[in-house]
Amino acid sequence: MTTVIFPDGFKWGTATAAYQIEGAHDEDGRMPSIWDTFAKTEGNVLNGDTGDVACDSYHRINEDIRLLKKLGVNVYRFSIAWPRIVPNGTGEVNPQGLAYYEELIDKLNASGIEPFVTLYHWDLPQSLQDEGGWENRATIDAFVAYSEAVFHKFNGKVKKWITLNEPWCISILSNYIGAHAPGKQDLQAALDVAHHILVAHGKTVQRFRELGIEGEIGYAPNTEWRTPYSTSAEDIKATELRNGSFNEWFLSPVLKGEYPELLTTWYENKGYKVKVEPGDMAIISQPIDFLGINYYTGSLIRYAEGNDIYNSEEISSSFAKTDFDWNIYADGFYHVLTWITATYGQIPIYITENGACYEAEPQDGKVNDDARIRFLRDHIMALHRAIESGVPVKGYMVWSLMDNFEWAFGYSKPFGLVHIDFQTLERTPKESYYWYRQLTTGNQLDV
Ligand code: BGC
Repeated sequence: MTTVIFPDGFKWGTATAAYQIEGAHDEDGRMPSIWDTFAKTEGNVLNGDTGDVACDSYHRINEDIRLLKKLGVNVYRFSIAWPRIVPNGTGEVNPQGLAYYEELIDKLNASGIEPFVTLYHWDLPQSLQDEGGWENRATIDAFVAYSEAVFHKFNGKVKKWITLNEPWCISILSNYIGAHAPGKQDLQAALDVAHHILVAHGKTVQRFRELGIEGEIGYAPNTEWRTPYSTSAEDIKATELRNGSFNEWFLSPVLKGEYPELLTTWYENKGYKVKVEPGDMAIISQPIDFLGINYYTGSLIRYAEGNDIYNSEEISSSFAKTDFDWNIYADGFYHVLTWITATYGQIPIYITENGACYEAEPQDGKVNDDARIRFLRDHIMALHRAIESGVPVKGYMVWSLMDNFEWAFGYSKPFGLVHIDFQTLERTPKESYYWYRQLTTGNQLDV
């Protein structure tokens, strides 16, 4: 047996997001978000599931904090729902919305669990979508105003802030692929959204500094790692395009103040435009304090003329899969982290999401999810290797604390360390929950 030891002060946590766990969709002044609308439109979400009730976490702060305490984590990442704070997107701030998060934040702090707050995890107020949503530049200032209300309220109580979760999903997945709200299929719209959310991120960081808010602010893009299927020049170029569109498109503007040229040229040659206004890149590249990295999967890429916008296809047959059919690629986690440090320098990194979907039901009070334990162990080992290679990773958060509303897949794809019975809302810790405690309590792993 070997013991793998993590650096002193390393943070161990779990992550969730408002729409996926809170429920209480119309309580205390909350107005609909694009996800309420999307989920209630037939055909968008498996089984017609919605986040109306979800895990009912809005009413179960104490129970959920007990689970976190018993898990031994020292950080908890959750998101604030914009439609609770500024229900109409702009204008009046709703004190009842703030009160809910105040209770949560105070109780976390009192329990010795540091809150890691995400300002935007996809729940845009529907009233803003009615005006064009993120395609409309006016949404940028609406976001800054909402963030400012939250900063003022929680200054000193929250020391770790994240502007956006997964900009690739907010733009490409939601506006080009169309699988997430608002469900558009238009690449130009997706590129416009991508640019506007980046400007919104940068302006929010600027505001945070101007206001002198205590603590640190970062940003949480999702990353994947693609490797060329062969050593052919075509496969290599196709892989560069895919990694570029997924990883660099959302990292280089923030960390280098520029879009990757390979991609801008590629899109322009296909008739799409990246509409950068003067001053935008300087705003987007405001220095941040840390990078949040979400990592789940990767694949091999083979050149395939005309198959998609990047002339490529994913080859997945050699990978073992999770129950979401996602490739398990722990080495890709190591590669993406070492690539980030080699490309962008020593910016501190928190792994803000990593985890896997596996189905497992309680039997005699036990939920046996060995496959999740294997997945986490392999990824945490890859993470440790990255740290040993000089990647400055400061913490790791499992997605997710509990099974929840998995977007277009509704309640059919459980990622939790805690099982939720969506009929009774009963919470049952899984075997992976008990396994994870060796890390949270000992800062080391026996393998
Ligand atoms: C998101 C989560 C989601 C998870 C699993 C990430 O894309 O940030 O909201 O549930 O991955 O799909």
